[in-house]
Amino acid sequence: MTPIRTALITGASQGLGRALAGALAARGWRLLLTARTAADLSATADALPVEAEVVAVPGDVSDADHRDDLRLVVDEWGRLDVLVNNASTLGPTPLRPLRDLTSDELAEILSVNVVAPHALARLLLPALEVAGGVVLDISSDAAVEHYETWGGYGASKAALDHLTLTLGAEQSRIRAYALDPGDMRTAMHQSAFPGEDISDRPLPSDLAVPAALSLLDRRPESGRYRASDLLTDAPTAPAATAPTGAPPSGVAS
Ligand SMILES: NC(=O)c1ccc[n+]([C@@H]2O[C@H](COP(=O)([O-])OP(=O)(O)OC[C@H]3O[C@@H](n4cnc5c(N)ncnc54)[C@H](OP(=O)(O)O)[C@@H]3O)[C@@H](O)[C@H]2O)c1
Repeated sequence: MTPIRTALITGASQGLGRALAGALAARGWRLLLTARTAADLSATADALPVEAEVVAVPGDVSDADHRDDLRLVVDEWGRLDVLVNNASTLGPTPLRPLRDLTSDELAEILSVNVVAPHALARLLLPALEVAGGVVLDISSDAAVEHYETWGGYGASKAALDHLTLTLGAEQSRIRAYALDPGDMRTAMHQSAFPGEDISDRPLPSDLAVPAALSLLDRRPESGRYRASDLLTDAPTAPAATAPTGAPPSGVAS
């Protein structure tokens, strides 16, 4: 019998994490969801189909005790098909130049966006290996571009990309993907552009979720992928990890 597929999604209470939870639940996956705000996380779980198998554990991914709580659930399952490191912080908003970003603020960004995903991948690697699973780390174009005021966040996403691709090179029994989802109409994006009308940005379900599902279905080689590239008919190849040199048409968070 084919085992039920399992996923842990961080930052699952809104935006991309919530949309991906809905998509995987619709496919019959068993889900472990986390985010800090318990009420929002419960609302996400409650909105899933009644037959969905979902465990919601509120907490902060930068808290080692919380990560241990997540591992206990995965240990009970005995396998993990996908770890989605999606929870992220921009740091202080409005975004500010590096000269005005304090060391403590940078450390907080790195703690959530880099240290926590690495720690979760380490903790859950045995369960991922059982399943021949996937680490899906949500990146950003800010990882490879150098937008003014995005330096702390961009550096964290560049570091996350590096960890992801190195993990993929080291671990032959799993795949590791850094996925640049492109602009998305979410709370994070709005907080990066306070007061701006962002209604022209796609919803997470328009592009980023289909791209993530495409990665999970097709299981290309480990690497960095852009959502927009994954939804073309062309053969799937990792995106370049360095800037293309083309001027950005916009800034994604
Ligand atoms: N939106 C864009 O245009 C865009 C573009 C490129 C990349 N991305 C990336 O896409 C991913 C999803 O972003 P989004 O726009 O969907 O964000 P979002 O709508 O703001 O949702 C962020 C989620 O993460 C949770 N979260 C934040 N900090 C957390 C922490 N320390 N521990 C646990 N959960 C935490 C939030 O819930 P709580 O606040 O309750 O914890 C929420 O569920 C992020 O990695 C982001 O960097 C976004």
